[in-house]
Amino acid sequence: MARYAYVNGRFVRHADATVHIEDRGYQFADGVYEVVTVLGGAFVDEPGHLARLKRSLGELKIAMPFTEAVLKLVMRRLVRLNGVKDGYLYLQVTRGVAPRDFKFPKAAKPAIVMTTRRQAFKPEIPTENGVSVVTVPDIRWARRDIKSVGLLAQVLAKQAAAEAGAFEAWMVDPDGFVTEGSSSNAWILTADGVLVTRHADNSILHGITGNSIEALAAEQGIKVERRPFTVAEALAAREAFLTSATTFCIPITEIDGKTVANGHPGEVSRTLRRAYYAYGQARQAQPVRWPL
Ligand code: PDD
Repeated sequence: MARYAYVNGRFVRHADATVHIEDRGYQFADGVYEVVTVLGGAFVDEPGHLARLKRSLGELKIAMPFTEAVLKLVMRRLVRLNGVKDGYLYLQVTRGVAPRDFKFPKAAKPAIVMTTRRQAFKPEIPTENGVSVVTVPDIRWARRDIKSVGLLAQVLAKQAAAEAGAFEAWMVDPDGFVTEGSSSNAWILTADGVLVTRHADNSILHGITGNSIEALAAEQGIKVERRPFTVAEALAAREAFLTSATTFCIPITEIDGKTVANGHPGEVSRTLRRAYYAYGQARQAQPVRWPL
């Protein structure tokens, strides 16, 4: 377990880190979060994650707890305090603490917490056989573009996957189209070599990793189409994979017990994963100097 967490202005021992019982995040899921990869001690795609954080907060009319410059300093300090080389930082901002009442409290101050977790990342795919997914109905609310801490549908989806021995659950809308994974975006490579992932509207979270994967694919001359696809289309695809800050890019070789293509991870998924790893290393920002 990490040594320190950041809670509302203070670095505290992780084991002692607590928030108030009337924090609106706890009572109403009235808050948002971000997960930012740390590779070699530096953040990957930080500008994208911070931009999405600002957008999520703006949509819920929650103020940024402090300026972006201060936020970045705190993020770096926590990573260094915990000695994280590879892993990720979790950041959560809620509307704050107030007596329970649905409407926005007048005086509440946004509450912010951050934690870190170590996790090894490799340029090669983590499981040589790829991973399996199961499909579940997408039962979430209509604003999935907001990275809200209201994740109960995703908890149920991920649990369904775990109980089926699968790595991830793909959520499917009422028209039979895949929206996204419970904590990742969903992709296929069609038989004619086009990468397909759902368009970034309110039906999915706009993945930061996926944006970079899309740019890396374009650099390699791969065409990307942003449109919905069905489970049948995924089963007939040449490749399928998922993307997120904690998984990068992982090939999917089985959907609901049925094999995708020849059942082996494809070359495009492997190449994009390697490319994303290299991109993460190359874009490492200079660590901010902070007296420890
Ligand atoms: N989840 N879709 C959903 C529903 C997600 O929860 C996530 C990320 C993504 C991918 O977004 P990004 O590439 O920006 O990580 C898509 C994080 C990792 C989590 O909740 O742990």
